[in-house]
Amino acid sequence: MSYRTIHVEASRNYDIHIGRGILSQIGDFIRPLLGDCRLVVLTDSNVDTLYGDKIITYLTDAGYVADKFVIPAGEASKCAENLLDFLNFLAECQITRSDSIIAFGGGVVGDLAGLAASLYLRGVKYVQIPTTLLAAVDSSVGGKTAIDIPAGKNLVGAFYQPVLVCCDTALMDTLSPEIYRDGCAEVVKYGVILDKALYDTLKIHPFERDRVVARCVEIKRDIVQKDEFDNGLRGLLNFGHTFGHAIEKLSCFSVSHGSAVAKGMVIATKMAALCNMCDVTDELHGLLLGYGFDLSCPYGADEIYNALLSDKKRRGGSITVVLPRSIGDCALVTFPIEELYDKLKIILN
Ligand code: GLY
Repeated sequence: MSYRTIHVEASRNYDIHIGRGILSQIGDFIRPLLGDCRLVVLTDSNVDTLYGDKIITYLTDAGYVADKFVIPAGEASKCAENLLDFLNFLAECQITRSDSIIAFGGGVVGDLAGLAASLYLRGVKYVQIPTTLLAAVDSSVGGKTAIDIPAGKNLVGAFYQPVLVCCDTALMDTLSPEIYRDGCAEVVKYGVILDKALYDTLKIHPFERDRVVARCVEIKRDIVQKDEFDNGLRGLLNFGHTFGHAIEKLSCFSVSHGSAVAKGMVIATKMAALCNMCDVTDELHGLLLGYGFDLSCPYGADEIYNALLSDKKRRGGSITVVLPRSIGDCALVTFPIEELYDKLKIILN
């Protein structure tokens, strides 16, 4: 079975394998990295129904003892209670430092499993097997792990790199159009921030999944290698996310992450136009509409501003947002928070 491999050099070096049907090779991929060990697979109820038996069979056929812990599908599962339950499960399974965790699912599963891996016994190895487009191109790569707390999304987390990412793109065949579209917002993001050629290929529907996933992962890899701990450049990956997170939070997560990011990217392009950086709003709006996104913002400047006050990216009285200079070239721009509010009032009211 053919696949591409992208190598990441960070605080832990690892490979990302991308290809259709490669889940069946999981045993061969992990043996040189993990040796003989016990495994615990964390997954969600949707993925479990479709592929839970399959992954356990592949692992046991490869000679592994593998247990499974299933959380309900959805963002609400990325919580402290599930983290603690999962940590207790690891202890019940007598997982030791030489054993490992497998994150088998979308961003919620990957973030929760990664954080548990960083905490349990002060750190055990983990493997990311993303099953959504969004997890494949973003959350499974780069070692950001987190849970949400009532004060906000991803507020408790750690940087903790996996030992391997195994991205079987055939697993995405069963995603609902809405969940697949969520990932498309992240893919568009990569085009806008750094790759005009990628952006242009996204005008063709449907895009070539394996090639596009690999290109997005390469872009993310390049950024993570330069700024693993998010002190500057990595902030470019937040294009559309600062406003998107505010929208997600205000909607109590009824607006999905991808839809919120799409709305957030449109707000950011309007802000770039207001700052005389460039005007690509109609261009980006048109592309995103082609993917079926509703790009209206249901909230006014006051609500978005108040939600931004608890954003992780705020530093004292200022906040940094990602604004395009053109398609394929974005800048990190820091505004006093009041100035951002004034601009939001022009854009949203
Ligand atoms: N999802 C943004 C990052 O990994 O930095």
